[in-house]
Parts: sequence; C-alpha cells; structure tokens
Amino acid sequence: MMSLTGIFLMFFLLIHLSINLTLFGGADTFNAASEFMGTNPLIFGMQFVLAAGFIYHIFLAIVLTFQNWKARGSQKYYSNKWSEHTPFNSRSMIWTGVIVLLFLFLHLWNYFIPIKTADQHLDHYELVTELFKDPIYAALYVIWFIALAIHLSHAFQSSFQSLGLRSGSYIKLFQVLGKIFFWAISIGFSVIAIWFFIKGNGMM
Ligand code: HEM
Repeated sequence: MMSLTGIFLMFFLLIHLSINLTLFGGADTFNAASEFMGTNPLIFGMQFVLAAGFIYHIFLAIVLTFQNWKARGSQKYYSNKWSEHTPFNSRSMIWTGVIVLLFLFLHLWNYFIPIKTADQHLDHYELVTELFKDPIYAALYVIWFIALAIHLSHAFQSSFQSLGLRSGSYIKLFQVLGKIFFWAISIGFSVIAIWFFIKGNGMM
C-alpha cells in the first residue's frame, strides 16, 4: 500500500507540474488550465482521493518507521545503526517526507485555501506569480523542491521494487526512469519559482 499510494502521488505530481508549466504560456493559458481543473467534476472527485492517498501514505510511513526503529532496537546482536551501504536518500526518507509535508501545509495556505475561499473571482496566475516575487518564498519553495527530489530519488525505485517489478533486466530501466522522473519533477518545479522571481523583480 505504501508503494501504491506513493506511485499515485508521483502520478499526481506529474499532472500538477504539467498544469503549472502552462504558467509560461501567460495569464490566459494558466487561468484556463486552472479553471478546467477547478470545474471538471472528475478532477473535483479526484481531490478527495488525493487527500485520502496523502493521509494514508503518511500514516503508513509513520507506522513503518516506528516498526523499523523498534525492530532494530530489539536486535541485540546486530548494530542498531544503519548499514554503511544504505544510501542517504533511503535513510532519510522519513525526514525528507516530514519536510515535504511541512512545506505542503505552507503551500496549501498560499494557494489552495485562497482559491477555495475567495468570494469573488480570483486571478490564479496573479496569485501564483506574485508569491514568487518575494525572495524568501522563492527560496523556501526551492528548498522544498530539493527535499522532494531527495525523497523521490529513493521513492521511485523503492516503489517498483516493493511491487516486485524492479527485478532482472528491468533494474537498469527503473534506475534510468527514476532518475529522469526525479530530475524532471525537481527541476520543473524549481524553474517555475526561479523564473517568476527573476521576471517579477524586473531582472530581465
Ligand atoms: C512551482 C511549484 C508549484 C506551484 C506554482 C503550485 C501551484 C498550486 C496551485 C495554484 C494550487 C491550487 C489549485 C486549485 O485549487 O485550483 C495548488 C494546489 C496543490 N498543490 Fe501545488 N504547486 C506547486 C508545487 C507543488 C508540489 C511540489 C506539491 C506536492 C509535493 C504540490 C501539491 C499540491 C496539492 C496537494 C494541492 C491541492 C490539491 C489540488 O488543488 O490539486 N504542489 N498548487
């Protein structure tokens, strides 16, 4: 379930990034894409599935982490430290996950809440681009995307491994796909924040 909810969330990220990239098409393009996402009944329904997926993924992550800590603590004859072969991105999954979650609250506060609670028509393009004019927000968002990149760099391969798909001749394929995925997601989102910071401050 951890891998399935993870794959679902990665799929969400791809869609979210695709919509966000329409920001480069200007206000009309982004507002039209945003309007479609906000009014399409199927997508409206998916929001609840997304929220449930997020909550379930986080719940399982906490349960698994406690189980791991407990199991390692009870193994008297083994070191309760991580193996030196365990890569950093794998060891830090719970912490990069916590960082991603904390920033997600900030993100929902910045965009989701104002859009859902606005009593009159709100220009989504303006809402998004105004925020990135602020150097602190632009930097905070890039830090968020770096934490997300580290989290995803392990998540992608690990999900397919747990499902038993990453084996034999597919190992290399999933390694390559994993790298393409996490670089595309992190660079894609970061470019948006940096671009609108530069543009918004008249630096070009
Ligand atoms: C440059 C980066 C990003 C921008 C400009 C952006 C923009 C937005 C906007 C405008 C909304 C409100 C959509 C609406 O309700 O109509 C939104 C919602 C949301 N964002 Fe982002 N986002 C970014 C990155 C991310 C990332 C990296 C994640 C996840 C790790 C994320 C997760 C969400 C979630 C869960 C929602 C609420 C669900 C939804 O409305 O689809 N966003 N974002």
